[in-house]
Amino acid sequence: MKTAIVGCGAIAKMHASVLGEMPNVEIVGFADCKIDRAEEYKRQYGQESTGVYASLEEMLDAEHVDVLHICTPHYLHTPMAIYALDKGVHVFTEKPPAISREQFAQLKKAAEKGTARLGICFQNRYNESTKAMEDLLASGKGGKVIGARAFVSWMRTKEYYTESGWRGKWETEGGGCLINQSVHTLDLLNRFMGESAVETQANMMNYHLNDVIEVEDTVSAYIRYPHATACFYATTAYEENRPIMIDIECENMSLRLEGSYVTCIYKDGRREELSFYNGYTIGKDYWGTGHKACIGDFYHCLETGKKFPIEVEDVESTFQLMMDIYQSAREGRIVLSKENRNG
Ligand SMILES: NC(=O)c1ccc[n+]([C@@H]2O[C@H](COP(=O)([O-])OP(=O)(O)OC[C@H]3O[C@@H](n4cnc5c(N)ncnc54)[C@H](O)[C@@H]3O)[C@@H](O)[C@H]2O)c1
Repeated sequence: MKTAIVGCGAIAKMHASVLGEMPNVEIVGFADCKIDRAEEYKRQYGQESTGVYASLEEMLDAEHVDVLHICTPHYLHTPMAIYALDKGVHVFTEKPPAISREQFAQLKKAAEKGTARLGICFQNRYNESTKAMEDLLASGKGGKVIGARAFVSWMRTKEYYTESGWRGKWETEGGGCLINQSVHTLDLLNRFMGESAVETQANMMNYHLNDVIEVEDTVSAYIRYPHATACFYATTAYEENRPIMIDIECENMSLRLEGSYVTCIYKDGRREELSFYNGYTIGKDYWGTGHKACIGDFYHCLETGKKFPIEVEDVESTFQLMMDIYQSAREGRIVLSKENRNG
C-alpha cells in the first residue's frame, strides 16, 4: 500500500512511525507548506525514493497514492479529504473531521459518493480501558444508566498557540479546548451513553489567555439524553495535564474511567479497580496510545473490505453534539438536537 502524509508537524510523527512499522506499507511522500518540515520527515521516516512536496496537490499529481494521512490544521481537513477522495485516494484524517456543520455535510457527501474510504482518527476508542468500560456497560451488571459526568483538566500555554499560527482562532481551529483537546472525551462519553443527545445547554469562557486566543479555554455543558443527563466540563486553563475522568452512573454502581484505570464503585463503597496498559505511545501521554491500533485497523479494513468502525457516519453523533455545545454557548440558549440534524 502506497501512503503519504500531508502536514508534517507534531502529530504526523505518530502516523509516520506507526506506518514505518507496518508491513506492506511504503511512505511515498510527505507534503507540508513549510517544505523544510517535509524534508525533515523524509530524513527521519522516509527512503531515498520518498517525495517531498510543498502542497497536497503537487504530491497527488506526482505520486501514486493509495492512502493519504491528513495531519494539517483543522480547517483543512474537510477540503483536503474531499480533494483526495475525489481522486479515488483513501483518506485517514486526524480529528476533528470538520469545523462546521456545513463542512461536515460536504465531507459526508464526498465520502458517500465514491469508492475511496474515509477513516477518522478517534484513537481513544481503541484503548483497552475504553473497551473495558463498553464491556461493563454492555454486560448490564450495573443496571440502567441514569447519569454521567466527564472532566478534562489540561494545560495549554501561550506558546502552544503563538507558535502554531492556526491554533486559537475560530477560522482555522474552529474552537479551542472542546474541538481540539476534549473532543476525544466528549466522544467517549457520548458513546458510553449509548444513544444520541436530545438537548444541550452550554457555556464557554476564555479565562487565562484572553490576550492570546479568541476561542474558548473552558467549556461546560449539561447534555440531556433520552434516558439520562450528562455534565461535561473541560478546560485547558489548568496547571497540569491530569488524566481525563468519566463517571457513568448506573442503578447499581458507578463506572469510572480515569486515565487508563476503570473502577466499579458499588453502592456500599466497595471498589474494584482494573488497570490497563493502553499500548504503544510516542509524543505526549495525553494523546493516548491508540494511534497504532486505529491506523492498523484502517489498513486491515482496506485490505479485507471490512467496514472501518470510525467512518464519517460513526462520528456524526459526537460531531453534532460538539456543534450543539458551541451553538448553545454562543446563542445562550438550549439547543435541541433535532434543530440541526438534517444539515
Ligand atoms: N488524535 C490526537 O490525539 C491528536 C493529537 C494532536 C494533534 N491532533 C490533530 O492533528 C492535527 C495537526 O495538529 P498538530 O499539533 O500536528 O499541528 P502542527 O501545527 O504541529 O502541524 C500541522 C502541520 O501542517 C502544516 N500545514 C499547514 N497548512 C498546510 C497546507 N495548506 N498544506 C500542507 N501543510 C500544511 C503546517 O506547516 C504544520 O507543519 C490537528 O487536526 C490536531 O487536532 C490529533
